[in-house]
Amino acid sequence: MKKLMAANWKMYKTGAEAAETVKEMAALLNGTAPEGREIVVFVPFTALERASVAMTAVKGASTGAENVYPAAEGAFTGEISPAMIRACGASWVLTGHSERRHILGESDAFVGEKTAFALSSGLRVMLCIGETLEERESGLLRNVLERQLRLGLKNVPADTPVEALAIAYEPVWAIGTGKTATTEDIVETHAICRELMRDILGARADETPLLYGGSVKPANAGSILALDNVDGVLVGGASLKADSFTQIINA
Ligand code: PGA
Repeated sequence: MKKLMAANWKMYKTGAEAAETVKEMAALLNGTAPEGREIVVFVPFTALERASVAMTAVKGASTGAENVYPAAEGAFTGEISPAMIRACGASWVLTGHSERRHILGESDAFVGEKTAFALSSGLRVMLCIGETLEERESGLLRNVLERQLRLGLKNVPADTPVEALAIAYEPVWAIGTGKTATTEDIVETHAICRELMRDILGARADETPLLYGGSVKPANAGSILALDNVDGVLVGGASLKADSFTQIINA
């Protein structure tokens, strides 16, 4: 399986800034993802079209939205449908990012609705899961991951192509804090996630990429990517600069 190298630009960059960063990436990568790597950059809605056009200069790379509403159209002020995302030239969407769960109050069930609807609308979905420090310290790690995976993957259409789904494990306490989980934490937690994925997804679980996210940077990306059950990384802060994200892609 190719390693999936994902960037999450969160609420950073206008359309012009996003297109500029993608152009810089294209130059640094000589127009192609390195052997064994696939690239996806999740960008704000307002930058999606320009970033997607610029990304056509990089073979093996695509763009995604950071959120989606689970309906084809309707009276949902401020929301964006899968068709709108696809019309911008993007093929992916993030669901369940911890900032949406914890700041915007999205429930596990709503995350599941978004995941299933986006997949049935032809988008590829990266479902994010992860525990808070309090949950980890209270011994709830496995319960939280199991609940987020079961509800997040509820109603995934049976005919979903295997390449359409990815899971990103991001411990909430390691996001944007500079605190990376230890290699032991990552190996142990990814083993739990894989076991739960097998239980929920059956045979396709082993072909479904399981990414790590949380303070990934050029200095630690290589060692994280070498760990068992790590099929890629989801990078926030260190993906905002083309140079730093390209170093991670090449790690
Ligand atoms: P970070 O963010 O790399 O800045 O910790 C990761 C994420 O939120 O996806």
